[in-house]
Amino acid sequence: MKILNLGSLNIDRVYRVEHYAETGETIQARDYGEFCGGKGLNQSIALARAGAEVFHAGCVGPDGGILLEMLTAAGVRTDFIQESGERSGHAVIQVNPDGQNKITIFRGANGDVTPSYIDEVLAHFGPADMLLLQNEISHVSYAIDKGREKGMTVVFNPSPINDSIAQCDLQKVDYLILNEVEGRQLAGTDAEDVQTLLGKLQEKFPGAVLVLTLGSRGSCYADGEEILYQGIFPSKAVDTTGAGDTFTGYFLAGAAAGRTPAEAMKYAAAASAISVRRRGAALGIPSFGEVFQEMQQLREKE
Ligand code: RIB
Repeated sequence: MKILNLGSLNIDRVYRVEHYAETGETIQARDYGEFCGGKGLNQSIALARAGAEVFHAGCVGPDGGILLEMLTAAGVRTDFIQESGERSGHAVIQVNPDGQNKITIFRGANGDVTPSYIDEVLAHFGPADMLLLQNEISHVSYAIDKGREKGMTVVFNPSPINDSIAQCDLQKVDYLILNEVEGRQLAGTDAEDVQTLLGKLQEKFPGAVLVLTLGSRGSCYADGEEILYQGIFPSKAVDTTGAGDTFTGYFLAGAAAGRTPAEAMKYAAAASAISVRRRGAALGIPSFGEVFQEMQQLREKE
């Protein structure tokens, strides 16, 4: 199975701060770094490091060379990435001493994805392939419709949630991978309890496999026949940016390789635990060997 990830590519400008600035407050960052990121790029890197055959499509600006280099070095096919006149997308990220973040994105070239470009790229893929989307590029709803029309397995990570999601026909999505906050927004509920939230999501999206990430409480999987819970692997967080993307990439690589959902969730949990110990979104994504070793070590302790 080939995986086409039609997704964002960002340059992440990361500021380590003692605390997030309050309204009207000016703070001094402890340090600053620039990294490759974007939910799309991060997920492609995670898929490739997990061993999947992945093609990334999307748009970068003239400053996007560093993004293409990182994808290529990880083994991601970049044949379909287009250069537009706009600068590459970027993110301003504050990371606090607990490794938590606040992110502002500027879409830049990620907003130059057009329906005709989507058609051109999709012409190279068919029903045996997977289409992965997040919500950081233009014309996501068109891509969902066309992916479904072609009979591809359509996977959507509706992140970040914004008004454009309302235009998407989520009944055409085969896998919805989302966090609790996104889950509540899509299900239209305030339910704190995971079972209630999962039930509401299943009612609303009966045809989709659901993968819900729950932060320190782990993650769960529901496909209409079974519901599985996966705990977290112990980790001291340095930078949680991209941990969800690492989870998504590793989970999907496992699913595409024919692993059971329980196995795929376990690999994904181990991979994201390693990623939070490292700085940088894409840079922190571990290799398959590192994930395997993490799982072995945990098994030995049990
Ligand atoms: O999920 C983390 C990513 O969100 C960052 O890399 C940033 O670019 C934003 O897209």
